[in-house]
Parts: sequence; C-alpha cells; structure tokens
Amino acid sequence: MHKLVFATNNRHKLDEVAAKIDGKIELLTLNDIGCYDDIEETGTTFKQNASIKSQFIYKKYNLDCFGDDSGLEIDALNGQPGVYSARYAGEHGNHAANIKKVLDNLEGETNRKARFRTVISLIWNGEEHFFDGTVEGTIRTAPSGSDGFGYDPIFEPDGYNITFAEMSMDAKNQISHRAKAMELLVNFLSTR
Ligand code: IMP
Repeated sequence: MHKLVFATNNRHKLDEVAAKIDGKIELLTLNDIGCYDDIEETGTTFKQNASIKSQFIYKKYNLDCFGDDSGLEIDALNGQPGVYSARYAGEHGNHAANIKKVLDNLEGETNRKARFRTVISLIWNGEEHFFDGTVEGTIRTAPSGSDGFGYDPIFEPDGYNITFAEMSMDAKNQISHRAKAMELLVNFLSTR
C-alpha cells in the first residue's frame, strides 16, 4: 500500500480524509511515524507554510506527505490576519483576543469583505502539488454564535445570514475553505 502522511496530529481531520479515499493508500499521522518535531511555520504565505510541513516530512522520512495551512484574509486590512490568524493578537490560539483585534481594526470600516483560505501542499511520488480552497464572506460588527472555533463567530459566508458559529458542523463542512481544498486533494488521490 502507498503510505501517505498527513502532517497533523488531529485524528479527526485524518479520519475525514480517510473516509473519502479508497484502500490503496495508507494514511498516517505524525504520531504514527514517530515525528514529534515542532515544525515551525516561518512562511509569509499559506502556500509556503503548507509546503514547509510536507517538505520537512518528505526530506526527513522519505515518505509522501501533505500539509495544510489556513486562515482569514480581510480586504480592508490588506489580507491580514492571513498566515498570522492563529496568533494575530500575540498569543497562539487566543480566539477571543484575535476576534477583538479584528473588530477593533475594522471599527467604522464599511468594506467588510473577507475570505477563509486553505492551501494544501501534497508531495506525491516526490512531486509537489497544491490545492486551494476559499469561502467568501463578510466580517460582522459583533460576534454571534458559539459553535466552531477561531473567527467563526464574526464570519458570515456569502449567501447566508448567519455566521459560521451559528451553522451546524455538517453545514459548515459543505462550504468551508478546508472542505473545498480537501475535496480537490481527494479527487487527485482517487485518480492515482
Ligand atoms: P490552521 O492552519 O487550520 O491551524 O488555522 C490557523 C488559524 O486560522 C486558526 O487558529 C484560526 O484562527 C483560523 N482559522 C482557520 N480555519 C478556520 C475556520 O474554519 N474557522 C475559524 N477560524 C479559522
């Protein structure tokens, strides 16, 4: 079986992909291959950060691999927080502080256009391929909803009048940036 590493330790993310690809590929997490390195995301684009992860694994373990990087791009903030989405307010993963910083920076701003983006870098038989998923929307003036994570409470996807944090996980997974990028990856793998 063709071994393929998903550069994550999130078993839930892995299971979602595994459910969609057939039995010709054995999917492995970082834990599965004994990789406990802290792979630093030093890139300035999602593409670079996704690539840093997949290249690291490929070079160290000589295994095909894919890694993803995601975040929120806000037009009126010149694409910020972008690759800094997780640590926009300083501390990694402080979602409440990150949301507050976005709302403060957009105070009085009428252009609320934004998008979530995911880029996946896949190294397959030693060659790199990229898959890009986006979902367009607008930034609310106040948070709403308690589901999801990150910036979900202030992001209203186009065509809806609720935020990501007010949607069921299933509904979000139908339209999300991550789901779209993963679908492109899965389509690619199913033709191999
Ligand atoms: P990651 O690359 O998937 O770890 O995402 C990096 C950061 O982007 C997260 O910590 C969140 O702040 C933000 N982000 C990415 N995807 C989402 C999402 O679906 N909803 C809300 N925030 C997200």
